[in-house]
Amino acid sequence: MADDPHALFEEWLAEARLAEPNDPTAMALATADAEGRPSVRMVLMKGHDERGFVFYTNLDSRKGGELAANPGAALLFHWKSLRRQVRIEGPVEPVTEAEADAYFATRARDSQLGAWASDQSRPLESRAAFEARYEEVRNRFEGRDVPRPPRWSGWRVKPERIEFWSDRAHRLHERRLFARSGEGWSEGLLYP
Ligand SMILES: Cc1cc2nc3c(=O)[nH]c(=O)nc-3n(C[C@H](O)[C@H](O)[C@H](O)COP(=O)(O)O)c2cc1C
Repeated sequence: MADDPHALFEEWLAEARLAEPNDPTAMALATADAEGRPSVRMVLMKGHDERGFVFYTNLDSRKGGELAANPGAALLFHWKSLRRQVRIEGPVEPVTEAEADAYFATRARDSQLGAWASDQSRPLESRAAFEARYEEVRNRFEGRDVPRPPRWSGWRVKPERIEFWSDRAHRLHERRLFARSGEGWSEGLLYP
């Protein structure tokens, strides 16, 4: 059994990639505004290592505003087919410009254009208005690489707690909690 939560996470993610019909990297991202009011939505995890878990988004979106005001987050992976969940909590930090550029460059061109066309989380007058904006950016970048929009980037959640939950018979589920302790981790179990 791994006693490094990052190694254990990689093992579980590898199993999820085989078992889940789609989006094994989908995770719920919970944030809170300056008054502590929570909100949650799904995002895709686009990077993971000892430093933390990375996702990308529009910095002016609702989540972006909440993270700027209150830079802590919780993540939840739920792999239904495996009957497992992983809960992660910790402060967030922005990824570097270079990291965001490198990831943006790997996105499909249509997604890159979409990032320019969407004022994420702002009221939208009509679907047609959005499509018109998409056409406008498509024309603007015709024949050249699409640069990363200045307000589109990533955040890294730096875990202080990572809990691995797995289903067991009779609701005697297993919960393994790893908590940051200095440079390492302490591990314990929780009642289900
Ligand atoms: C499976 C799934 C994956 C998603 N991945 C992302 C993502 O990686 N980044 C993102 O900004 N929105 C993603 N979304 C859309 C968000 O859930 C959300 O609608 C959007 O980011 C606006 O959220 P906000 O208004 O709270 O900022 C995803 C939605 C789903 C259902």
